[in-house]
Amino acid sequence: MSTNDISVSFSDRVTEAWDFAAHAHNKQKVPGTQLPYLRHLGLVALEVMSAHLSEPIDDIELALCCAILHDAVEDQSVQPEDLERRFGIAVASGVTALSKDPSLPKGEAMTDSLARIRRQPHAVWCVKLADRISNLRGAPAHWSVERVETYRSESIEILRVLGVAHRGLATRLALKIATYPGSTPDAA
Ligand code: NI
Repeated sequence: MSTNDISVSFSDRVTEAWDFAAHAHNKQKVPGTQLPYLRHLGLVALEVMSAHLSEPIDDIELALCCAILHDAVEDQSVQPEDLERRFGIAVASGVTALSKDPSLPKGEAMTDSLARIRRQPHAVWCVKLADRISNLRGAPAHWSVERVETYRSESIEILRVLGVAHRGLATRLALKIATYPGSTPDAA
């Protein structure tokens, strides 16, 4: 279905994305825990929705669908063409931009993804901000000090490059960076 199909409601499209993600991530756990990966996707979607309530995000449907589907390509090898067929070109392009290119070295993959996100509508920038806010709940217990520091620097770069998209999300991300890694071990 196309996101332009006015016969399908906002709720139908968002719940279809959630159902699709539930199937795609069915066997995936939050790293280092027994919790279903849907927990991460739900937290990112809730960050997006909360931000929208404080300061409207231009295309909230695009933001929510991309939040729910943002790891489907990177983690579950869902084909962007499949997303396009089901959710439309805007969602497929947003999720593709949010996915790291596996052919690039680790350091370059984030810079490349951020550059591609910047060519997307602000709704997609908001998903990256929300994703990082969610991932800064705490560093996984098995991470080295260096890895935690790298993650913090990367988060500062995300805020610098994308923060202009949403004041509320930028403020929240800055706060999370300031207190990272905190005292509660969690998984990124
Ligand atoms: Ni994520």
